[in-house]
Amino acid sequence: MFLISFLISVVVAAPTDLLSIGFNIETVIKVRANLLQIATHSWEIGTALESLTELEWLSLSVFSNTFPPPTHLGLLNNATDVRSIATQIVQAKPADSLPFLDGDGAVGDPASVGVAVLLANWTRPDLLDTSISQAAAGQLQYLLQDAPRTPDGAISQRVDQVQLWADFVYMAPPFIAYYGALQGGDYGSNLLQVAYDQCRLYRQYLRDDGGLWRHITLGTGQDSSHWGTGNGWAAAGMLRVLETIRLSQSPFQFVEQQANLTSWIQEIVSAAWSFQKPNGTLYNYIDDDTSFADSSSTALLASVTFRIAALTGDFTYIPAANRALSVIESSVNADGWLLNTVDPETFNTPSQPGSYSPEGQAFVLLLQAAHRDLLKLLFLTRA
Ligand SMILES: *[C@@H]1O[C@H](CO)[C@@H](O)[C@H](O)[C@H]1NC(C)=O
Ligand SMILES: *[C@@H]1O[C@H](CO)[C@@H](O)[C@H](O)[C@H]1NC(C)=O
Ligand SMILES: *[C@@H]1O[C@H](CO)[C@@H](O)[C@H](O)[C@H]1NC(C)=O
Ligand SMILES: *[C@@H]1O[C@H](CO)[C@@H](O)[C@H](O)[C@H]1NC(C)=O
Repeated sequence: MFLISFLISVVVAAPTDLLSIGFNIETVIKVRANLLQIATHSWEIGTALESLTELEWLSLSVFSNTFPPPTHLGLLNNATDVRSIATQIVQAKPADSLPFLDGDGAVGDPASVGVAVLLANWTRPDLLDTSISQAAAGQLQYLLQDAPRTPDGAISQRVDQVQLWADFVYMAPPFIAYYGALQGGDYGSNLLQVAYDQCRLYRQYLRDDGGLWRHITLGTGQDSSHWGTGNGWAAAGMLRVLETIRLSQSPFQFVEQQANLTSWIQEIVSAAWSFQKPNGTLYNYIDDDTSFADSSSTALLASVTFRIAALTGDFTYIPAANRALSVIESSVNADGWLLNTVDPETFNTPSQPGSYSPEGQAFVLLLQAAHRDLLKLLFLTRA
């Protein structure tokens, strides 16, 4: 099986005592299978597809140096699971729906599958089939033209009122940016700028002094807590936009935007780890000691920390990410379930015994891939 041989080839002995070894292959395979079994909501499927892309098909992800992806995929590097899930979503989409799938009232969440849909279109075997491309165009149109916005242009995360959630930053801007990078030219550059502007506007609305972001602002039902997963969504979403701009035809048009995204990601990373507990965990409300330990946000923020370090060469927070990795390793049980997660639907209670977090499962895979890629970079650099 390709996944196994690939993982064996990269899980080499640590080139440096700075870094420990991540999960073993059997565990990763179980975590992945469990993820695919329980991911049902749009944002969970989108996050799952991104995690599979980064874990199994790195060269087709925005964390590689290859762009655009090849139009014909080889036998071995064919993103078969990602493309088939994305294609099924498009085939199941009602003809009168612009969003790819039902978003439970969220604007951004259906767009989270968009990068996988764009990849499926780009690499489709039947070049006469424009249905996937049309679905992507419809989803983009929905975000840019139909969804409600704030007066200054931030796209609402809710359909029925203008409301901004940190979650949005992972769901929509990476799709808008990837769409732009694939199109290229002025049209593509414009979309890269739109993706950046959404990150900028969301930060303007949600960031508090100290650098952490509130979860939800504006409208009815705000959540001004510094939700761990919300901060992870924001940092990880900005990271994907940054990496997409870097790969695009026109990174030099976006020098200041890239510098800003980098510092905004580092701002969250640095603020979050300042509240890390001795065993490596973060709390669900990062800066609230009456909250509880949450492995989901710990895993997602650790993955961002490894990746931004790989990009910038700034290893200040690698020890914190390593401590986080070890608490996550000890939080995945023998059956491949991540324990000690927040319930991703209440945001403020632990998952009930026997129920697990789909996004938490995906964050373990994102963490594994990010840690592996940093090791690989250090190993290759030193070899
Ligand atoms: C995709 O790759 C897998 C191995 O990873 C292979 O078994 C399968 O036949 C390939 N499919 C296509 C359509 O190339
Ligand atoms: C779909 O792929 C084709 C290349 O086969 C490309 O020309 C088109 O722009 C793509 N559509 C989108 C929305 O990326
Ligand atoms: C980058 O961030 C600085 C400080 O927040 C801001 O003044 C500047 O306008 C931003 N640059 C762009 C291109 O948005
Ligand atoms: C880590 O420490 C916190 C207390 O700071 C505790 O609540 C949590 O259960 C610990 N996690 C593990 C996996 O031991």
